[in-house]
Order: sequence, then structure tokens, then C-alpha cells
Amino acid sequence: MRFNNLIAAFVAGATLVACAAAGPEQPSMQAAATAAPAPKTLTITEASFSCIRDLKPVRGFYVGNLLGDVDATIAAANAADGAVYPPGSVVQLVPTEAMVKHPAGYNAATKDWEFFELDVQPGATKIRVRGATDVVNQFGGNCLTCHAQAEAKWDMICEQGHGCAPIPVTPTMAKAIQNTDPRCAKMDNLPADQVAALQQLAMFRAAAAARAAPPAGN
Ligand code: HEC
Repeated sequence: MRFNNLIAAFVAGATLVACAAAGPEQPSMQAAATAAPAPKTLTITEASFSCIRDLKPVRGFYVGNLLGDVDATIAAANAADGAVYPPGSVVQLVPTEAMVKHPAGYNAATKDWEFFELDVQPGATKIRVRGATDVVNQFGGNCLTCHAQAEAKWDMICEQGHGCAPIPVTPTMAKAIQNTDPRCAKMDNLPADQVAALQQLAMFRAAAAARAAPPAGN
């Protein structure tokens, strides 16, 4: 049951989210010219997310930056011994879950990360749940509880080998979910191993749903 919930938590929707369209706080070129200080707040809306594959791939996940400094985010993600992700960073493994880094001061317990659970449909992203310490995904997993297990130097990014308990989503499953984000252009010729991974996920999801939710009585 717990295993199924974990699977479901990561698969929910198998669709996805992603990209970080610049929000209203993105500094304009003009602002930069007048040496405007970095914004102290970051506004994140549904428009901040879109096709996960429009973000930049780093190993098995994707990153972006809502404040325009994607190079700094990629550098943090590639730092051999870990790094603090810069404000504006967006990190996603699957379209339906995202972490976004706020400027310092947002929340010490989460190291200024905000957690999001998203609903993704063709052409649309809806924020289902967002926040810091109490974001629980629809299958009962608290984002922070798991991500806080990462060794401090990894800034709450779990990947594999950073100290978080592993989740039962294989790299092939994650790839298949990324490649079927309904907000992205449809990919032709999904590799056979990814097609098989999606079938396996669908089975896990159906089993988890059957256990979690009694039939709706209609
Ligand atoms: C059961 C523990 C658990 C829960 C609950 C959980 N995660 Fe994770 N998450 C992980 C692990 C472990 C990975 C790394 C998976 C991998 O790369 O194999 C991960 C990966 C991610 C990544 C990619 C970057 C990284 O840390 O590797 C993001 C972004 C993410 N999760 C966001 C969320 C959000 C948002 C929530 C809540 C809505 C959430 N997670 C809930 C354990 C969890």
C-alpha cells in the first residue's frame, strides 16, 4: 500500500509541468541597466509552468529559472560537491511536481524552496497545492519530509545517493513521464522501454487508486 502510494505520488497525472515563463518580477533589461537590486520576492503563478521539456535537462531532471538566470541554476545542479540553488530556480523530475527557490527569507525550514503539486492538461497547468512545510501530495507524502533527508550540501535535492530514501520510480519511468507531458508537443516513437514503463505505471496507479478511493457511487 505504501509502495503503491509512493508510485502514485510520482505518477499522478503523468503529465506535466515545467517551464518557467518569466513572471512579472523578472527584471527587465532596463532595470538591469539601472542596477536594480535582485527582487526580494518572487511571484509564482500557473503561468510560471509549462512543458517540462522546455526546461533544461540535467541528468534525469529538468531545471529553469524564473528570474532569468538559468545558467546559475544549471551551475548549481552540476556542482560536483553540491551548491545552494539561486533564487528563481525551478526543479522538476515529473510534470506534476515542482520545487521553486525563493529569495532568502521565504522559509528557513525549506531553505527557501516552495513545493508545488500541479495538475497538467494539454495547454494548461493548475496549481493543486503549494507551500513550504505542509505540502502533502494527493497520496499522502509530505514533500519536505522526504526532501529534507538530502545531505545539507545538496540543498534538498534528492536525486540518487544524496541521502533521501529512494522512491520506486526508475529513471526510465521518469523519462517516459517527461516525454508524455500533455502540455508538450506529442513525441512520436516513444522507445519501447518507456512504453513498457508507462504501462507498468498505469497498473500501479490503478491499484493505488482502487485502494485509496472507494468508487464514487454513481
Ligand atoms: C516519499 C518521499 C518523497 C516525497 C513525498 C516527495 N519526494 Fe520529491 N523526490 C524524492 C526522491 C527520492 C527524489 C529523487 C528521485 C530520483 O532521482 O530517483 C525526488 C525528486 C524530486 C524532484 C527532482 C529533484 C530531486 O530532488 O531529485 C523534485 C523537483 C521533487 N522531487 C519535488 C517534490 C514535490 C514538490 C513533492 C511534494 C508535492 C515531492 N517531491 C514529494 C522523494 C520524495
